[in-house]
Amino acid sequence: MGIPKLGPVIAIDGPAGTGKSSATRHLADVLGFIHVDTGAIYRAVGYLSLERGIATSDRVDSVRAADLARSVHLEFRRIPQKNPANRIFADGRDLTDFIRTPEVSMASSRVSACAEVRAALLGLQRRLGCVGKTILEGRDIGTVVFPDADVKFFLTATVDERAKRRLVELEASGTDSPSFEDVKAQIVARDHGDSTRAVAPLKKAEDAVSIDTSTMTLDQVVKLMESIVRSRLGLS
Ligand code: DC
Repeated sequence: MGIPKLGPVIAIDGPAGTGKSSATRHLADVLGFIHVDTGAIYRAVGYLSLERGIATSDRVDSVRAADLARSVHLEFRRIPQKNPANRIFADGRDLTDFIRTPEVSMASSRVSACAEVRAALLGLQRRLGCVGKTILEGRDIGTVVFPDADVKFFLTATVDERAKRRLVELEASGTDSPSFEDVKAQIVARDHGDSTRAVAPLKKAEDAVSIDTSTMTLDQVVKLMESIVRSRLGLS
């Protein structure tokens, strides 16, 4: 049975650094859809797991991580005067500015491999996708969270290009920048973890449209996706 939805759902999956987040944000703006960044949900759980000693960057206590995922109240709040305006709160605490460090990236990848953590976060993602016209981005949106999404995309890019983009982001955020080789190694490690885990591994849904963004500008990616969505959904 399909998941009851109040509006069309667009699923955007793919590994980190493919331009998924920026493309999703812009696409949501041009189409007037709600943007749900499911990675921020896993990152919030990863951050709290580090803080509480439930995870390190290379180990996680899956029982405690699942307890945490089940008990924490996660929500997105829009705060227009902040950048980004779409903020993730855990039990009323705004974690948005702390969840993009390399350490949290690795911890979120570890916690996201726990089946019970994924099960605990599934309902929240579905509820967020059912409230109206939504675009959800993640790793398993088109395969697990909304297998009946109205339009599905799978973004890819070469590892070198993704490492280059990630380095630019880290430099812009003022974080102490690691070397290109370190960033690349981390991307390869995270890809490996995300795509070989037993539960909901990163993989393209059969009916997803693949877009290789390696040589495309953000604007080109957004325009391509917009034209596909408009034609599939019959929007003018
Ligand atoms: O998209 P991101 O890099 O912010 O995601 C952080 C981690 O969360 C990533 O390593 C994989 C995991 N994730 C997931 O397993 N499923 C999702 N739907 C979204 C993210």
